[in-house]
Amino acid sequence: MNRRTWKSPLAASAIAALSLAAAISTLHAQAAGDPQKEVDAAYAKFKGLKEGKNADYIPALAKVDPNLFGIALVTTDGKVYSAGDLTTEVSIQSISKVFTMAQVIQEQGTESIEKRIGVDATGGRFNSIIAIEAVRNVVGSGAPEMNALVNPGAISATSMVTGANADAVWAKIIGIHNDFTGRQLKVLQDVYKSESDSNQRNQAIGALMFAYGYIKTDWRQAVDLYTRQCSIGVNVKDLATMAATLAARGKNPVTGKQVMDPGKVPPVLAVMATAGLYDDSGKWLYHTGLPAKSGVGGGIIAVSPGKFGIAVISPPLDDAGNSVRAQRAIADISNALNGNPLAGAGK
Ligand code: DON
Repeated sequence: MNRRTWKSPLAASAIAALSLAAAISTLHAQAAGDPQKEVDAAYAKFKGLKEGKNADYIPALAKVDPNLFGIALVTTDGKVYSAGDLTTEVSIQSISKVFTMAQVIQEQGTESIEKRIGVDATGGRFNSIIAIEAVRNVVGSGAPEMNALVNPGAISATSMVTGANADAVWAKIIGIHNDFTGRQLKVLQDVYKSESDSNQRNQAIGALMFAYGYIKTDWRQAVDLYTRQCSIGVNVKDLATMAATLAARGKNPVTGKQVMDPGKVPPVLAVMATAGLYDDSGKWLYHTGLPAKSGVGGGIIAVSPGKFGIAVISPPLDDAGNSVRAQRAIADISNALNGNPLAGAGK
């Protein structure tokens, strides 16, 4: 027997088992099916869909091209599949609420958000003031029935990010967004100005949340930083990378950086599943099983844990404030790739 090539049967079977395990883990990380084929098919199917209307309560959003349409899917092993417009930046809007909440959870633990803001759906619109009044009687009882993905909870979460002054708080907020995308993001100044000039309702929400004890710092600063975080410019690959980082237990699969403790990711996904698409969150979960988050800039991100993150940008929204094409495209692609985590493993 050739001594150089001989391996003991035990060693050979161990190597075979390891190779099989590696192959299975690669298969698990990859989406079942052909992601590029499904992305292309959804792009072709929904390109002509004209339902919905750009948000116009922030004047700058009404001016964005309603035909803008891009899809990106990033797997937990860093492969990128895409179609359509991949470079145009839109304002991240409410999708930023996920990452500011993640910053608070990362810095102050999972209980911080649960105790101060709550992790329950309001069932109301994203900027409902009735929802604030509905929870007023339980503030201080240790059981607030709010969440960090609707405006009152989101402005409160922004107020919880610690820092000696507004610049220090902002450095942390933009920092976590940079880490999740893997690049230095910038604020779209036209959107920031337009929203700052027209955000009187959010100022009222900030003042109420201060009056009712959710915000314990300067509420005007919290509303301003919240408005700034909503104006961060992102393209569709940025958004898909952010979603993929959540799918990969807090490790950005493109840069390889661990940006959040793995154990702190499931609570973030839980709030997304409960409240990510506002009053349509239940309907969305029923059809896809995916934790997701929408923004009035036209983006939606969705997370298939352990498999992939997916994002679509398309500005026309439905009545709940969620992009019409993004919902349809993500549902089609994810379901074709067995992305629904509630379906369990396998076919
Ligand atoms: O608070 C606002 O009005 C916006 N800056 C964000 C709202 C938003 O994106 C709601 N999402 N669907």
